[in-house]
Amino acid sequence: MFDFRPADDCPKPEAYRQLHEAADALTAGEPDGVANMANIAALLWDFLPDVNWTGFYRMVEGELVLGPFMGRPACIRIPLGKGVCGVAATDAATQLVKDVHAFPGHIACDSVTNSELVVPVLRDGDVVAVIDLDSPSKARFDEEDRAGIERLAEIISDRI
Ligand code: SME
Repeated sequence: MFDFRPADDCPKPEAYRQLHEAADALTAGEPDGVANMANIAALLWDFLPDVNWTGFYRMVEGELVLGPFMGRPACIRIPLGKGVCGVAATDAATQLVKDVHAFPGHIACDSVTNSELVVPVLRDGDVVAVIDLDSPSKARFDEEDRAGIERLAEIISDRI
């Protein structure tokens, strides 16, 4: 099947370019959103070093509901405005959290998580899902990760 992992010394922008190409190739022409989210979660898991959770929460009837992911079992429903994911969905804005323990209302699904990046997926101006990445390291994610995952969200927004 698909074997994907950038070289260890690959600069992040180039690595994300490869990720975008792979995400596009994996989801192009496939109408099933669950299948596409599952493959993207697995791709992120393969691609990103130092993460303990990669996946989706979907907007369902006014709350976030767990979608396809890699990692440990997680909280199933997150109300809008609650936790990092709920704030990202309510504000339609990326949350780059260097220390989750300093984030008011952070929802601890896994006690090993120390930093988090949550990017909303928008379709026609509405938040339809969020991409959630968790890491056991503090400050694991930076502005290059933010840009890379925001671009990923654009690529898949009408495929999930
Ligand atoms: N920590 C998230 C909850 C989801 S888990 O990390 C998978 C939050 O605060 O929204």
